[in-house]
Amino acid sequence: MSGDERLTVGLGARSYDIVLGRGLIDRAGTLLAPVIRRKRAVIVTDAHVAPLYLPRLAAALAAAGIEHDAITLPPGEATKDFAHFARLCEDVLALGIERATPIVALGGGVVGDLAGFAAATLLRGLDFVQVPTTLLAQVDSSVGGKTAIDTRHGKNLVGAFHQPVRVIADIDALASLPRRELVSGYAEVVKYGLIRDAAFFGRLEAEGAALLAGDADARQRAVRQSCAAKAAIVAADERESGERALLNFGHTFGHALEAATGFGDALLHGEAVALGMQLAFDLSVHLGFCPAEAAARLRRHLAAIGLPTSPAELAAGRFGAAPLLELMRKDKKVADGRVTLILARAIGDAFVCRDVAPATLADFLAGALEPGRNSLATAGAGA
Ligand code: GLY
Repeated sequence: MSGDERLTVGLGARSYDIVLGRGLIDRAGTLLAPVIRRKRAVIVTDAHVAPLYLPRLAAALAAAGIEHDAITLPPGEATKDFAHFARLCEDVLALGIERATPIVALGGGVVGDLAGFAAATLLRGLDFVQVPTTLLAQVDSSVGGKTAIDTRHGKNLVGAFHQPVRVIADIDALASLPRRELVSGYAEVVKYGLIRDAAFFGRLEAEGAALLAGDADARQRAVRQSCAAKAAIVAADERESGERALLNFGHTFGHALEAATGFGDALLHGEAVALGMQLAFDLSVHLGFCPAEAAARLRRHLAAIGLPTSPAELAAGRFGAAPLLELMRKDKKVADGRVTLILARAIGDAFVCRDVAPATLADFLAGALEPGRNSLATAGAGA
């Protein structure tokens, strides 16, 4: 069995550790005591996570002499809106906080993003701790300081960079995740292999199924490798002026698909990212950047794991290429009106591409949403 591991996100005076291992929630008090400035914290969680982990986290803080209050939010992406943000801020202020009072986010990406944005803005910035309980949050959203809420114009459009002072990723928390959530989070793990680490992708092909079936050591290896990759990228480019954009691999397509399907159960975030990553590979093949076998290999792995690889069924009768392209144009990476895409030369070799002609993209999307419409779709589907 793996023991506790620590990785540092190196950001000078704002550097912090990601602690990962098993049974960490029960030891959270001692893990937090060295990095928080007051023996008083506000835990923010949601109604799914609270019954599972809040009593244990509360007991661990109490055992370390850390007083705390807890605020429980409704679960789901709909909570990441202005109304819940305002209510959360008022509720935290009502507790009589000071600048050194840390906010502790206990839960998945929604809780982390919303509580993090509240921490970034309350009293112009409170200390912030992430205790991610989903695979998606452990490998992606809890690390790197992106916090945000959604607006009617799109996802994560109002937010701030606000780094946590510590991330505590308890691998045992993944045991309570429904399989669909786990598989969805796994898409973000695959992303790290695709963007920079072909050997990691190879390992995932070998042990992805075991990881999803419950192998805790395989889970910890994957979380560690993913966090190490993310920590290195964030340390080099905290504000996404360069290579951090690679972490959005699959996300421009994916966010548009999520928006087109209403950010709900029809398509979970990681499922959208899986579709987006496959589209990015298929487009890379179409544009001649990448051999077809790479896209085929990705499709085989995603399908073997149970992640979707084609948006055609999802789109049928619901949305077409033109509205999807419109949604892609709302992406934060749009520059001078052009969509910025992350494409690939091979598995493990992604790059930022700003010069895909809009007509090419529109034609590609039409082919992807209606397989058989043109030769491109046939190439993608058969790959
Ligand atoms: N989730 C992408 C990033 O943190 O940059």
